[in-house]
Amino acid sequence: MDYEAMAEREIDSYWMAIVNTLKQRNLLRQRPQQGGYIIPRALGVLDTEADCCYFVLDMQYLAGVPREKWLDHDLWRQWRAALSGRAVGVADGFGLWIGIRRKPGLPTAKRLPAVIPLEADRIPDGLYTICLGQSKRGDVVLDLAGSERAILCGGAPGGGKSNLMQSIILQLCAKHGPDELQVAIVDTKTVDFGPAFERLPHLFMPVAHTMDEATALIGTVEQERQRRAAIMRQAGVNHWRKLAEPFPLLLTTIDEAADFAKTPAMEILVESARKGRAMGCSFVVGTQLPSARVIDPQVRAALETIVAFRCRTHLESQAILGIGGAEKLERPGLALAYLRGKWVTAQTLLVGDDGGDLADTVAVPVAPALAAVEVDLVRYALDEIDGRFIIGRLAEQFAGQISKYKLAKLARKWELRGWLTTPAHATDARKVTDELAALADGGLPPVQGIQGRDSRIGQIGQIGGVIGAETVTGDRDRGVTGAMRGGFPVSSFS
Ligand SMILES: Nc1ncnc2c1ncn2[C@@H]1O[C@H](COP(=O)(O)OP(=O)(O)OP(=O)(O)O)[C@@H](O)[C@H]1O
Ligand SMILES: [Mg+2]
Repeated sequence: MDYEAMAEREIDSYWMAIVNTLKQRNLLRQRPQQGGYIIPRALGVLDTEADCCYFVLDMQYLAGVPREKWLDHDLWRQWRAALSGRAVGVADGFGLWIGIRRKPGLPTAKRLPAVIPLEADRIPDGLYTICLGQSKRGDVVLDLAGSERAILCGGAPGGGKSNLMQSIILQLCAKHGPDELQVAIVDTKTVDFGPAFERLPHLFMPVAHTMDEATALIGTVEQERQRRAAIMRQAGVNHWRKLAEPFPLLLTTIDEAADFAKTPAMEILVESARKGRAMGCSFVVGTQLPSARVIDPQVRAALETIVAFRCRTHLESQAILGIGGAEKLERPGLALAYLRGKWVTAQTLLVGDDGGDLADTVAVPVAPALAAVEVDLVRYALDEIDGRFIIGRLAEQFAGQISKYKLAKLARKWELRGWLTTPAHATDARKVTDELAALADGGLPPVQGIQGRDSRIGQIGQIGGVIGAETVTGDRDRGVTGAMRGGFPVSSFS
């Protein structure tokens, strides 16, 4: 459909909503003879610059609707409902004209809180889902393994792109272990993904900081995608979730795509993103420069979900979203996205410094794992209360050393980390696990990120031997994946 036809359809749909509402409010009179209603007349104009639609009413043909009725705010509210939440009003200046904002929701976005911290209880249930932020209709959930598996986020510096990537990574890491999720991070700015991210047990490769490292990382991700494709072919399945033991989701985040514009690495990235759906490869790519140079048609086609933060100009907004509007997002963290057929404005969740509390719970702790008082707490729980981590008892015993509040927080953190058990009933106490007991005995923290990797290389060798030497060469020097552990017993191939 050409642009004019599209504009005409859009104008028509608004006009229908306007007229139907007038009819519902009994403001229109029926024609005495021909039947039907007497309809007002207006000239409809689509203003793409201001992103509004205007109807200039023909004052000679108001269909008998008196002026004060047009200016009735109750009518406007009803119009707004009929127009799927688009702001609408009537101006009374040189005649009467109706103005409709084309994008639903923007004006009320101001009422969203300016800061919504990322906290564990914001994370939605459900495999590989995360909370993007809050819209006026509630939390906006993205499915990183499904409809939002390839995200492009753009916007001027300081808009909130890196923060969004961190939020996505941390939320997924908080609910999926390294056997279900692996992350590959490119941070060429080198300041955004701090030490907590280097310590994620889910890292597929070390965080890439230089262009060379980034290029290598992108290449390795693509090799992994090809390796997965080969395994899936062998197993005769066409989607990674159909495997007896699916691969972990491999999430690749690239903070600044402009660095890679028109390089071979970008071509590889686009290829991986385009073909990765079936193999559990997801991508989040950011860019400060939403220009045609960075977001060429291939990139746009490969990264289907677009999240825009504040843009400098209407043109930039258009380059990333296809329409204007993102230049009006007035503060960091406020994002405009087109999700599952709808425009959504949301205040994204703010991650604390170096990942905040959440990173603290998911990243591998730096040795020593336990502070002195923590060691005493664990010993007391083991020796005196049967291994149960009873917060009330511990608070009493360690009064003056640690508050009840801090104890509760610590218990929650240890539970998330798997160091305390999760009780079946809310009233039961958590129990100290063997792992935590070992730590209190001076054991080293489990550095899954590294140990896991080494131990996997042996397994990859085995499987590679079956699926073909070519794939193996690519795999040898890096960490591949929990799913290999049990999903494909070597015997099933031989
Ligand atoms: N969701 C949010 N809520 C509130 N403030 C935010 C949010 N996201 C980002 N900010 C603020 O904006 C600042 C910049 O965010 P961020 O570094 O994510 O921007 P960016 O788009 O990555 O910028 P650049 O393009 O320069 O890398 C943050 O330090 C924070 O103060
Ligand atoms: Mg950034």
